[in-house]
Amino acid sequence: MTEDLATKLSRPVPRYTSYPTAPHFHPGIDQAQYASWLEALPASAQLSLYLHLPFCDRLCWFCGCHTKQVNRYSPITAYLEALAAEIGQVGCMVGTRPVTAVHWGGGSPSLLEPDDIAATSSLLREAFHFADVVEFSVELDPNDMAPEKYGAWAAAGLTRASIGVQDFDPRVQAAINRIQTYEQTRHVVESVRAVGVRSLNIDMLYGLPHQTVAGAAQTARQVASLRPERVALFGYAHVPWMKKHQAMIDEQALPDTTERFRQSQAAAAELLANGYERIGFDHFALPHDRLALASHAGRLRRNFQGYTADQHDALIGLGASAIGRLPQGYVQNVVSTHEYQRRAMSGAGAIERGVTLTRDDQVRGHAIERLLCDFSLDLAALRATFGPDADPVVEDAAAIAMTDEHGLVQLLPGKLEVTERGRPFVRTIAAGLDAYLQVGNARYSKAV
Ligand SMILES: C[S@@+](CC[C@H](N)C(=O)[O-])C[C@H]1O[C@@H](n2cnc3c(N)ncnc32)[C@H](O)[C@@H]1O
Ligand code: SF4
Repeated sequence: MTEDLATKLSRPVPRYTSYPTAPHFHPGIDQAQYASWLEALPASAQLSLYLHLPFCDRLCWFCGCHTKQVNRYSPITAYLEALAAEIGQVGCMVGTRPVTAVHWGGGSPSLLEPDDIAATSSLLREAFHFADVVEFSVELDPNDMAPEKYGAWAAAGLTRASIGVQDFDPRVQAAINRIQTYEQTRHVVESVRAVGVRSLNIDMLYGLPHQTVAGAAQTARQVASLRPERVALFGYAHVPWMKKHQAMIDEQALPDTTERFRQSQAAAAELLANGYERIGFDHFALPHDRLALASHAGRLRRNFQGYTADQHDALIGLGASAIGRLPQGYVQNVVSTHEYQRRAMSGAGAIERGVTLTRDDQVRGHAIERLLCDFSLDLAALRATFGPDADPVVEDAAAIAMTDEHGLVQLLPGKLEVTERGRPFVRTIAAGLDAYLQVGNARYSKAV
């Protein structure tokens, strides 16, 4: 039965928000390399901007993001100065190539004060060439929101807000140091809608300490009652060897793999029963949402923010630890905020590492992305796009099917299909196409 499979297939695997994954980035990729990659982009290349704000006013113990706690606003002011400098520098490098999407993530961009939201947004519009229609999203922690912030984000051009919920059970909230009521969340949802923002996403987690199957289902019901257009349902990644504050989490209170699987199934069932469609392995959307439409059309994409309908040619990362993706490879800014500020202010550029995509990386990255987005890999199309370079990946796909003891996939003429039973394990299936997994020693979180 599928629950037993969750235990059998619990080998940790990457979330594949990039391929190769971040542990394979190296310092051989520097600012000069980045500049030459940007210069080679076609003049019509559509750009998506990602801005990172690595600050929170308290730390949730489960958090796996690049962020740090600040008790005053002055570190944020200093950081924004450096961010402004980087925006100016990168804006010059990309010239008039059109920006079609902007995403603020963190940390908590919701900490920004209205004047800073306005100032940074105008800077962006001065430094970059915005297309007529720009999708503009921001991650909001309800605990940070104040009445004057909603209008400031709306005036900056906000089209989607992503609101962190995680779980509404007070016992779970106490165990993760994240207190946030349903009413407080509903107020934020209503306030965001009141300023004209049409699209909302809510983040939920399963696998948290003291979380139960009934509790995960109840949170999903409450989330669905708020009618966000999208819901992300992530499995809690417990990686205390990388994120020291996760040591505050009581490991005895963490659910085991079977229980995690049940929680994810129960929350998903609730969302599906409330009119949401499943998008990829960890997102849900209402049928009219762009993400659902992109999924129907086979145009879903996967990047560092998870699943997206965004069809950009290059992702430009701005801020400490931000990752960019260009056709030639990945780049990442220096993680330390102190070092980031020093480099950005000196004009030296903040790129610290990255990876050049080999032809094999391109084929495998494309195949993994399609598998995770479509639950199917069109091997004939892969051959048509990449020619003989696709052969090793086609062979690996056949090997996945041949060694599949659990009915997770089906090899059809010209196609590898993930079965209904295999869907929750699509990351594990995709790992069969990952050429780095066999050789590397990077440690990942649980597959389910
Ligand atoms: C940058 S954070 C959220 C933005 C905002 N600071 C907030 O907390 O509402 C983005 C999302 O990542 C998810 N997340 C953070 N740490 C995680 C972890 N260890 N495992 C899985 N998901 C995690 C959470 O669902 C969170 O809402
Ligand atoms: S979950 Fe959000 S608010 Fe909590 S520490 Fe992480 S980034 Fe900050």
